[in-house]
Amino acid sequence: MKNKLIQEITSTLRGRLSLWYLTSIGLIILLFLTAVSGLIWITLQDQIDHHVHIAVNEAKQVVENYWGEERDGLIKNLVSAKGMTVVVLSPDGSPILETNSPDVALVTEHQLQKLLTFSSLYDASPTHFTENNIRFAAMPAQVSAGKGIVAVGYSTQILYATLYRMLLVVAGIVFFVILPIAYVGYKLLNKQLKPLESITVQAKAITVSSLGKRITIASPTQELKTIQEALNTMLTQLEHIFTGERQFFSDAAHTLKTPLAVLRSQTENANLVQKVREDMLKTIDKANDTIQDLLFLSRINGTVRTVERVSLTDIMSDLIELASTLGEEKKLTISADIQKEVYVKTDKKLLQRALSNVVFNAISYNRQQGSINLTLKEKHHFITVIVKDTGIGISRHDLSQIFSRFYRGNHAEGGGSGLGLAISKAAVESLGGKISIFSSVNKGTTVSVTFS
Ligand SMILES: Nc1ncnc2c1ncn2[C@@H]1O[C@H](COP(=O)(O)OP(=O)(O)O)[C@@H](O)[C@H]1O
Ligand SMILES: [Mg+2]
Repeated sequence: MKNKLIQEITSTLRGRLSLWYLTSIGLIILLFLTAVSGLIWITLQDQIDHHVHIAVNEAKQVVENYWGEERDGLIKNLVSAKGMTVVVLSPDGSPILETNSPDVALVTEHQLQKLLTFSSLYDASPTHFTENNIRFAAMPAQVSAGKGIVAVGYSTQILYATLYRMLLVVAGIVFFVILPIAYVGYKLLNKQLKPLESITVQAKAITVSSLGKRITIASPTQELKTIQEALNTMLTQLEHIFTGERQFFSDAAHTLKTPLAVLRSQTENANLVQKVREDMLKTIDKANDTIQDLLFLSRINGTVRTVERVSLTDIMSDLIELASTLGEEKKLTISADIQKEVYVKTDKKLLQRALSNVVFNAISYNRQQGSINLTLKEKHHFITVIVKDTGIGISRHDLSQIFSRFYRGNHAEGGGSGLGLAISKAAVESLGGKISIFSSVNKGTTVSVTFS
């Protein structure tokens, strides 16, 4: 779950940049906080040391110059401040005086023993040490019995509490600052990445029939300009290739047309047996048809189209008639479900050609007494044409290449050129539609053409 989320975030550039941006801000703030708290910690400790330093000197003065109740009273005054404790030890280590402010526990045995280990304390300045969360300053002092020890302690618990409170406040502030920063950063990032989305949308919209289009971006950055230029250069090259290919097909077709025409008229007039002449003419006509198909295919994306309001219902009716006539030989049953008054703005000839090729196939690759069903439906401006047959079907292997030029499946009989579906696909797509084919061997084939 967690991994999936991280994967999702890091799979987009936006996610990665956001993550990087937030991590950097987080790290900077963390570093800043660490430095600040370190500084506060050092300053507070210095202050405590300073505080106990002064206090232990005062305590030493009191211990050396006053006795009895007066001394105890003065010492008590010293610990009136929060978190303070004062201990005076006799030379043999037994406590002479122990007092502390109410919020601090009595000095423990352990702390006293620790004091004793400092047997050679300096006279001039106090020795500092921390024991059980109490910061001590200890000095030698002249007590009645000889040279004893006086120590003043300050609870570091108070120090921790102060630091903790300060950090809590700072963390709270950081939290409320980082939220708007993250939000603003995300918005800015989105704005910067918008042109990338626009490039994708534009690039996706370019098809073979609109290779002349170029990608445009308003005020692009240097990087975006590079992408834009690269894509546009590629489009120009593609356009050249496609135009060249179209030109090649067109030239080849034109070059072949004339000798074929000559050959045809010579065959017609030649002194041949009737059957041979007919076969030869059939072959020549087939070659001619292929050349016509090639020319047609090469012109699909190259020519300016005449777009008009066309009744698809009428086109379908014509196709039913065509199927009925051509299907007589195989005794095909033709059924239809044609919605009335379906209109499209399109190139009528091109659309007719695209659909009739599909219907021709449904007849050619059907079996005796098979059937063909034609459907036309419009729903929410989504138009679907379906041509379904009960023919020989297409194998899975053939299906993957069925729209390729000159591709004819294994079962291909008859006189096709293998250009029919290639023309249908090119035509439908150049009219903004989609064509797909489903088939199962020995059961039949369904071709659907959709426009939205
Ligand atoms: N309705 C169909 N049923 C079975 N096979 C089909 C059907 N439509 C197309 N095919 C197969 O796809 C191949 C390519 O079709 P097409 O491009 O129209 O070329 P052609 O019909 O000239 O062979 C055909 O040769 C045939 O094998
Ligand atoms: Mg065909």
